Amino acid sequence: MNADGRTRLNQTPEWTALAKHREELGEVRLRELFAADPGRGTGYTLRVGDLYVDYSKHLVTDETLRLLRELAAATDVSGLRDAMFRGEKINTTEDRAVLHTALRAARDAVIEVDGENVVPAVHAVLDRMADFAGRVRSGEWTGHTGKRIRNVVNIGIGGSDLGPAMAYEVLRAWTDRDLTVRFVSNVDGADLHEATRDLDPAETLFIVASKTFTTIETVTNATSARTWLLNGLGGEEEAVAKHFVALSTNAGKVADFGIDTANMFEFWDWVGGRYSFDSAIGLSLMIAVGPDRFREMLDGFRIVDEHFRTAPAESNVPLLLGLLGIWYGNFHDAQSHAVLPYSHYLAKFTAYLQQLDMESNGKYVGRDGREVEWQTGPVVWGTPGTNGQHAYYQLIHQGTKLIPADFIGFAEPVAELSDELKAQHDLLMANFFAQTQALAFGKTPDEVRGEGVPEELVPHKTFKGDHPTTTILARELTPSVLGQLVALYEHKVFVQGAVWNIDSFDQWGVELGKVLAKRVEPALTDGADVPGLDASTKALVATYRELRGR
Ligand code: F6P
Repeated sequence: MNADGRTRLNQTPEWTALAKHREELGEVRLRELFAADPGRGTGYTLRVGDLYVDYSKHLVTDETLRLLRELAAATDVSGLRDAMFRGEKINTTEDRAVLHTALRAARDAVIEVDGENVVPAVHAVLDRMADFAGRVRSGEWTGHTGKRIRNVVNIGIGGSDLGPAMAYEVLRAWTDRDLTVRFVSNVDGADLHEATRDLDPAETLFIVASKTFTTIETVTNATSARTWLLNGLGGEEEAVAKHFVALSTNAGKVADFGIDTANMFEFWDWVGGRYSFDSAIGLSLMIAVGPDRFREMLDGFRIVDEHFRTAPAESNVPLLLGLLGIWYGNFHDAQSHAVLPYSHYLAKFTAYLQQLDMESNGKYVGRDGREVEWQTGPVVWGTPGTNGQHAYYQLIHQGTKLIPADFIGFAEPVAELSDELKAQHDLLMANFFAQTQALAFGKTPDEVRGEGVPEELVPHKTFKGDHPTTTILARELTPSVLGQLVALYEHKVFVQGAVWNIDSFDQWGVELGKVLAKRVEPALTDGADVPGLDASTKALVATYRELRGR
């Protein structure tokens, strides 16, 4: 029994039933499942918004899905979901509400935190952002010398970087191509150097994005960016006001840094960093694509929010995807999950999902304070599909590990491609469909022999198949579809955290490294003696100093 009165997950009858079912299913074969049910290819599909989701190529039967839904019911996923949407403080270790869904709520919605409706404030900030983005885009907002802003550099890290950086790439075709938009995150000075070396300070706007405004990487880069700006503009301090804006929850720290809080766009502690790019954190994106496209993206998020909140369990897509992940992670010992987009524009999507998923569900302590006795979040990885095919797909097809994968593709290429480049799209998508087919059904030894392959090569050319995949297909990659995709994964992660009984919204695991870095830095710089430094780190620091001639 848990401290919170719940039976431990792995002792519930629903968990036990799934374990037994897994044993009974044994080495289930997708070829057999498809042969037994000719309707599987259309029956095991769902639609949400513009997304067509095919889950037929999974190692599941109707019974598996029923048992998984029972596990979700037993762990009260819907109860926690409703509490989240209501604004209850479900992030218990930080005593915070979890309301990224309020960031895309309709103007007339009412969502209360501590008795106060937060929706008017959300829309007030969106309106301010739209006004500011409009002024930058039109040239009305100029730099200190009166020159038009042509470059926007977002300085942030983690959730204050990955979301807007990913979305900017995704929506590239909707961006103002006359603007240069860059993202600096790494405290390695090379990042800021490369981002600014060819820019004119008089035409450059820095957006300093940090929920806490205490993150050392961001504050350090922002300080160096200010020096770069002032050096370029003759050292006049007043220039900062025209070239720096802040996105934060911490007005005090923003002011301490020297940015006028009139140039700050606010968000709130109930927005987790990795759930924040549809808040003020999306300002760089809004400047790039314009307020209308940004709002279309929010509408897309809202479509999936509503679906997640109201769709019955049988047709609830985030619930299904979350449960499928639990099926593989907890009952097939899968350790990782690949996300493989067949769109160049989604190149940064999986990197974005890594933070969303791994920072949320990379936990070994449950909400009850006890260590879990079951696997939690998977390693999430992947890059755009066709490139992966010529790199690591070999291991997915013929390696010894089970790697469930999501394939994401689109029927239409983006509109601005030339006719010749658009014609390449069928080839791209032929690969998309061929890969999930090969992964699912493989090639039997007899099929290989039938091709006249010499016997000694037959085992090498056999594909066992039964590698599970979800296919997500949409007509076109629009701002709304981007919002739908992100919300889909946000809620999938939510479902898994709810079942595993972990707090998906804190991130204490990143703290220790931060504290130790602060402690070690003086040893590198001044050779200071750091008490309690272990022998390995001591030797590494000494070698580093020697290599730097210190
Ligand atoms: O170190 C982890 C983290 O706290 C993330 O959760 C967050 O997205 C990132 O750092 C950046 O934090 P901030 O927006 O406060 O600078």
